[in-house]
Amino acid sequence: MSYSSDFRQSIEKPEQFWFRQAEKIDWFKFPEKILTQDERGFYRWFEGGSLNTCYLALDQHVNNGRGNQPALIYDSPVTDQKQTFTYDQLLEQTALFAGALVDLGVGKGDRVIIYMPMVPEAVIAMLACARVGAIHSVVFGGFASNELAIRIDDAKPKVIVSATCGIEFTNVIPYKPLLDAAIESAKNKPAHTVILKRPQADCTMVEGRDHNWQELLDQASPHECIPLQATDPLYILYTSGTTGKSKGIVRDNGGHAVALNYSMEAIYDVNPGDVYWAASDVGWIVGHSYIVYAPLIRGCTTVLFEGKPVRTPDPGAFWRVMSEHKVKSFFTAPTAFRAIKKEDPRGNYKDAYDLSLLESVFLAGERLDPPTYEWLTGMLACPVIDHWWQTETGWPICANMLGMELKEIKMGSATVPVPGFDVKVLDKNGKETETGDTGSIVIKLPLPPGCLPTLWDDDERYKNSYISDFPGFYLTGDGGYKDEDGYVFVMGRTDDVINVAGHRLSTGEMEELIGGHEAVAECAVVGIEDEMKGQVPAGFVVLKDGYTIENNVLVPELVQIIRSNIGAIANFKQAAIVKRLPKTRSGKILRKTIRSLADEGKAAIPPTIDDPAILDEIKETLHSLGIGKAFQPRSNK
Ligand code: COA
Ligand code: AMP
Repeated sequence: MSYSSDFRQSIEKPEQFWFRQAEKIDWFKFPEKILTQDERGFYRWFEGGSLNTCYLALDQHVNNGRGNQPALIYDSPVTDQKQTFTYDQLLEQTALFAGALVDLGVGKGDRVIIYMPMVPEAVIAMLACARVGAIHSVVFGGFASNELAIRIDDAKPKVIVSATCGIEFTNVIPYKPLLDAAIESAKNKPAHTVILKRPQADCTMVEGRDHNWQELLDQASPHECIPLQATDPLYILYTSGTTGKSKGIVRDNGGHAVALNYSMEAIYDVNPGDVYWAASDVGWIVGHSYIVYAPLIRGCTTVLFEGKPVRTPDPGAFWRVMSEHKVKSFFTAPTAFRAIKKEDPRGNYKDAYDLSLLESVFLAGERLDPPTYEWLTGMLACPVIDHWWQTETGWPICANMLGMELKEIKMGSATVPVPGFDVKVLDKNGKETETGDTGSIVIKLPLPPGCLPTLWDDDERYKNSYISDFPGFYLTGDGGYKDEDGYVFVMGRTDDVINVAGHRLSTGEMEELIGGHEAVAECAVVGIEDEMKGQVPAGFVVLKDGYTIENNVLVPELVQIIRSNIGAIANFKQAAIVKRLPKTRSGKILRKTIRSLADEGKAAIPPTIDDPAILDEIKETLHSLGIGKAFQPRSNK
């Protein structure tokens, strides 16, 4: 395999290229067509193909004699548990839970929400949905009940699968009260819930609606895989957009399986039998693609880690798991390594473990910052690879493709476009920028298999959000540039999405919530730099006339609004009352200017600004409250 020939063929002759990749998976019926456009004009992959993703992830390996191989290793320092499931065992549990879902009336096309911590049952529930053609929607356990309610109303699930609690470091977080509150406030009530009772917390059950996971399983009979069309949806995963309503990214079965299998071979260079570990959460896209589906489709052993990079129990947790489970390829977000580096700057904990089997470390979720890259490469003997992707694409857009040829690493770049992704950088008029010039990063349509065909129940929003700005291109929402060697440098979002500790959040949503406070006339939330979490949100609030409320009274109230509506993961802890917000003459809030003031202590005065004097007022507020990297006491820098 050579990168340049694969890339060229994938762009010039996509149907030939993806025919070749499609031949590598075990279809029930091979597709009749490779690439088509449907009646909406949306591109679809592998029409006429029939398959089942759960079959690919489990049954095919059992049928091929891999039944005794570990499929999933559950390692949970927070509960002091370790458990290995072979492919035989994972299949048995999944087929039974699929039967339980069918007993509850779930069938092809029904939605099932999964709101669970990092336990094997979360994976089993996902695969069981795939087995019977139900569309799962996993909601990250860190989201508060309001976020869950929004997703319930959009996906309209027949069943919600949850657990009594999650565990954060040593804190037991009860999930059931959050679930009950979400169902209470949602307009579309699910007919049933299935609750995994964990020993760390019990819960009250609603008679007739709530079912105990174990009791259901005890009564269930195993269910077979049902054949699905390649274009049938496998799951919906909600992600932050620029408004309060998150976007339901749809993933289909056929393109997803083909693309993930290709990525494991060409990008991650892992083979059947290898141990692959993505330290993320099943609630995020990394968890969907690289904890669950890709490693299992590929016949690897996947690691499900219910812990943190630090304090579970120490900053050696990652090194221990890699060594103990013989991990070949590891994947996490840079923020996780920054957390380790903060507690163990010299990497002393690593020395206790044998990492000789580790062949690669992949990072994504945010740009791999040069200090973290240098710290890691100084300690590890294997390549450390930054790669760029998003929930919408489901697999990497740009990467250094280890399975083909390792290219020169350029710090700050996610390297080159992966075959299938025709990446361009456009200026605001839709013209390609000169080498080195920054613009909007777009991908020429059609997107390769595995990427979103549309948004759940909202084709219009899909069009408006992604394919209308530059006709013929998909808008990634990221800005950046290409260098003379075609390396892509992703410099950050061009919209109001921020990245907090590897979690994607919408400042627009936070503004809507803060704007609901009775004292608030208007507000702006911006993502400001944070050494460990990359970015954290900070709010700037203008009070309604006649309101007198002190900063130290208002801010805790705003913090609570965000915590109880979005969740603690928003990391919304800083806010300031200001007299006015900087705006353009047409009334648009200059969020980027506020961000520069907080990060750098200064900002270029935008030519469109209404009144430049406001910038001095904001700077004064940042200074007096110590908000922003530029205004923090020296010891915190
Ligand atoms: N359930 C409930 N609460 C959760 C949660 C979950 N699944 N995940 C996080 N939270 C809570 C935390 O307990 C914390 O609460 P607090 O403010 O009351 O202390 C808050 O949300 C903020 O969490 P976080 O930003 O994650 O900070 P942290 O200090 O707890 O942990 C890291 C920092 C870097 C260790 C952690 O963010 C991490 O491991 N990040 C990697 C992210 C990742 O894997 N991203 C996926 C892309 S690869
Ligand atoms: P998510 O959909 O949660 O995976 O977030 C996707 C967004 O995270 C992208 O649009 C980027 O803004 C950012 N991102 C992910 N990986 C990288 C990377 N390697 N370099 C720069 N930004 C990244």
